[in-house]
Amino acid sequence: MKRDFLNISDLTKEEILQIIDYAKKLKKDKFCDQTLKGKSIGLIFMKPSTRTRLSFEVGVYQMGGQPLYITGSSTQLSRGEDIKDTARVMARYLDGIVIRTFSHHEVQQLAKYFDKPVINALTDYLHPCQILADLQTIYERFGKVEGIKVAFVGDGNNVANTWLIAGGVVGFDVSVATPPGYEPSGKAVLEAVKHAEKTGANINITNDPAEAVKDADVVYTDVWVSMGQEGEKEKKKDFEGFQINRQLLKYASKEAVVMHCLPAHKGEEISEDVFEQFADVIFDEAENRLHSQKALMSFLFQ
Ligand code: CP
Ligand code: NVA
Repeated sequence: MKRDFLNISDLTKEEILQIIDYAKKLKKDKFCDQTLKGKSIGLIFMKPSTRTRLSFEVGVYQMGGQPLYITGSSTQLSRGEDIKDTARVMARYLDGIVIRTFSHHEVQQLAKYFDKPVINALTDYLHPCQILADLQTIYERFGKVEGIKVAFVGDGNNVANTWLIAGGVVGFDVSVATPPGYEPSGKAVLEAVKHAEKTGANINITNDPAEAVKDADVVYTDVWVSMGQEGEKEKKKDFEGFQINRQLLKYASKEAVVMHCLPAHKGEEISEDVFEQFADVIFDEAENRLHSQKALMSFLFQ
């Protein structure tokens, strides 16, 4: 049966650990895995991207496959052809699809009608490829992912939702601090808590950044205004006190690292000095998108 990667919980804890371990090998030898030889992978982007697009294009090429970058406006999707028909047409040409779009439901529909692997490259709800790369980065820094504490401070967005579910599945603590009214999705919290009952992870949602960051090993943030919310710039004023800066980091563990999925708005969700202090980790995260996604594709297309 085909496997998709729409949510981090589409993989078991063991599979996640196996993929990040394999990503380490791919990082050392970029052409060693040729799983995609002779395969054509469609990369559908209905939103902008720097890291995700480039890492998938380069990754598919390095694995022997053909990446096809498809923008939203260049397909009949932009003229109303439905996702169900698009999926059935694409299935006649392509061996896999990577998709970045708005609606998570649309990606689920695509996966239902496309009979080969579909990878979620970001929806308004989740960003699982990002968290896979971040887990690889955490593993490189701490030698483990289980038992650590991740604090997410900012908007309760797709990245925050995915952290919560990842913590539940893998078994590490996640505390998310947002201003009132910007909490993560209730559905993601429920799913995280359900997984956490098995793994023992602590899942915490708060409106107090200091509480979230207390003793955290990883302090994480993302933009306050996500793609598709550009008309909501006014919301930024609600985020006062939610910037990751030296003051807030005093609450974290002494060995804590700061992470950011990028792109960053320095001076908003993160201060410039803290960003530069942790630039090595932040750009490792960006690099690891390539390695972890190759490991993921090797797993899904085997
Ligand atoms: N972090 C991330 O997904 O970056 P892009 O939007 O540039 O792909
Ligand atoms: N939350 C951000 C992540 C960008 C990688 C967005 O959806 O725009």
